[in-house]
Amino acid sequence: MSQAQLERSEDRFVPERAQEAGGSVHAGPLQARTRRLPRPLRRVLRSRVVELATTPHGVEPYLRMVNPLWSIETTRALLVDKRRETRDVTTLVLDPGPDWGPHEAGQHVRIDVELDGRRRTRYFSVSSSAHRHDGLITLTIKANPDGFVSRFTHTHARTGLVIDISEPRGEFVLPTPRPERLLLVSGGSGITPCMSMLRTLLDEGHAGEVSFLHYAKTSQDRIFGAELDDIAARHDHVLVETIYSDEDPDGARFTGFLDREHLDTLVPDWTGMPAYVCGPPPMLDTAEELWGSAEAMDNFHIERFTLRVPSADADADGMVRLCGSDIEVENDGRPLLVQAEDAGLEPEYGCRMGICKTCTTRKIAGTTQNLSSGDVSQEDDEDIQICVSVALGDVELDL
Ligand code: FES
Repeated sequence: MSQAQLERSEDRFVPERAQEAGGSVHAGPLQARTRRLPRPLRRVLRSRVVELATTPHGVEPYLRMVNPLWSIETTRALLVDKRRETRDVTTLVLDPGPDWGPHEAGQHVRIDVELDGRRRTRYFSVSSSAHRHDGLITLTIKANPDGFVSRFTHTHARTGLVIDISEPRGEFVLPTPRPERLLLVSGGSGITPCMSMLRTLLDEGHAGEVSFLHYAKTSQDRIFGAELDDIAARHDHVLVETIYSDEDPDGARFTGFLDREHLDTLVPDWTGMPAYVCGPPPMLDTAEELWGSAEAMDNFHIERFTLRVPSADADADGMVRLCGSDIEVENDGRPLLVQAEDAGLEPEYGCRMGICKTCTTRKIAGTTQNLSSGDVSQEDDEDIQICVSVALGDVELDL
């Protein structure tokens, strides 16, 4: 989508919101600026003298004034293009600079933005090939009605925006050497790491069989649809099959959600090849059951971007005391962050998955369990991540 089309879209860009987003909007040709902070200058800026001289704000705000892409703390990426994939999915084309990466197909990055005075952190898979020669990467993001970051990137972010981005990370990556046969299964916006894998394999000239099963609500929601059709038409060794849950087009072999019949019919030897699965939690749960019951977990690889959050549990006991706010609620078994929010507090959070540590809170007393690691915290005065911690009985938090 061109810039002109973007500006005509119904959700108009609001510069003030971009400024709030911790990113700045720049009319000038940022691409032409020096992307790299010169090494000698970096050393000087990290010195104690500079730290004292720039107290209390630190070096970063001053650096940002000189060159918004410079930082001694993080990597800053420049948004160089943006296009709509479907009604609620947007691809951001980012220039993360020469010091970033490289990424492996399937990995994700963290992006940080400040919205309404609060720092928000979210993780998104890279959707581009690991072999792009222009140094750019793409993130393909679905606007989540409850997601500040995804709604901001979908609606307001425009070229020239500078955002903080982490190095690529994650174990959900293509195996090396590349397998002779490979199965990719994705649902909704979970297509992004799988698409990065497919694009990467094609860029490598990989001739092994690739079966790509994608689940979407309707044909309108099919991300990368035209590109996938083109790939399937040009490459005999790539099978692309899209299955819709809310639509039954002529000639469709299946509708609905992932099940064994789809796999048995479309990829008969599906248990005998590495499989990479990414999608919404119910689909991932189904996939785990299918590969588990087929005793094929050795070939099964999964990427989850949301934690299975337990619902309220009638058997949960104890009280949760939010000492800093003088609030006490009955423990209902859900993560402490959710219970604190329901009690009217607004604790800081980022990923809500136990990764970024933004929600770290001092537990004054009581026992909690980290749902992500399974670790139990029994000591008083311990820091816990409340987004993934549940109370086991009475708990007091410094909130
Ligand atoms: S919000 Fe990221 S660890 Fe809790």
